[in-house]
Amino acid sequence: MAIINANLYLAQHFLEQGEVIAIPTETVYGLGANAYDEAAVAKVFAIKNRPLFNPLILHIGNLGKIYDLAHDIPSVALQLAEHFWPGPLTLLLPKKNTISDVVTANSSLVAIRMPNHPITLQLLQRLAFPLAAPSANLFGYVSPTRPSHVEKQLGNRISYILEGGQCTVGIESTIIGFKDKDIIIYRLGSISVEAIEDVVGPVNIHIRKCSHSSLTIPGSALQHYAPHKPLLLGNVPTLLSTHHDRRVGILSFDRYYKDVAKEHQVVLSPTGSLEECAFQLFAALQTLDAMEIDVILSTYVPDRGIGRAINDRLMRASFRGVIVKRR
Ligand code: TXA
Ligand code: MG
Repeated sequence: MAIINANLYLAQHFLEQGEVIAIPTETVYGLGANAYDEAAVAKVFAIKNRPLFNPLILHIGNLGKIYDLAHDIPSVALQLAEHFWPGPLTLLLPKKNTISDVVTANSSLVAIRMPNHPITLQLLQRLAFPLAAPSANLFGYVSPTRPSHVEKQLGNRISYILEGGQCTVGIESTIIGFKDKDIIIYRLGSISVEAIEDVVGPVNIHIRKCSHSSLTIPGSALQHYAPHKPLLLGNVPTLLSTHHDRRVGILSFDRYYKDVAKEHQVVLSPTGSLEECAFQLFAALQTLDAMEIDVILSTYVPDRGIGRAINDRLMRASFRGVIVKRR
């Protein structure tokens, strides 16, 4: 069992000893280690069962630290950092040699972000090193947005969870890279495409759908963020008519469906707020996964703002469900 409390000194102590701990961020909980300690970083991959070819994001506590980690930083990257940090934006930049190839999975680019969570920001400002931190879930499973989610998945593999309450945003950071003059979104996240374009003008979106073994685009593993139960995505009444013989649970945007018991339905936002949907999504998937049901039927949410990232996560969560359906 991991200790769960908000003691910064303890967190700092574990990290300075080369241990791996869970940390809160505004998006999801992370599994953090000293990015300059290769053995500690290797533990992160082992604890998550994460393939070594999938690199980690470095977390920093102030913007100036970016220069310790990256070189040839485009001015537009600095403009984005100044606008959105601390916040759910990750920048892909040319890495300095001080960063181990283990962190970046041999890529010449390093992913950097400054999270917007008061406790973790304080922690990062006290540490003499950046934290390499992926989401604190087992590889492929749903990301944790509450300390209890981390405890359930990893409580027997780590000794400390820094308590920071529920993640206020609930969807991972938006990942952005730069090629020549182009600004490229590689992972849809909680900062919307619209919000980014308001600051820097038009961007390209490269979200490729590929398998685990050929993961080249961040967060692009098709079966990802996935509950153990199959999840089918689409028009719920249609799905219900084809699955009436199974025990179904429903993940709904803003309303309950008749013909299914209310206790087998999770409504993400009764008022139709996409921000509330993002806040609830990963907890809702875990709640449905724990129900006595055979299959989760889910709606898409409106495809605008943070809704695009929510639909992206739902699509990846449904991958196994789609395979089941095809058989
Ligand atoms: O909101 C977030 O970004 C959370 C919190 C904990 O900060 N972190 C997170 O980490 O979502 P993770 O590891 O679950 O997802 C990070 C994604 C991965 O898909 C990885 O492939 C990509 O970022 N990534 C990291 N470093 C990269 C690099 N050097 N080049 C390309 N992709 C990279
Ligand atoms: Mg993750």
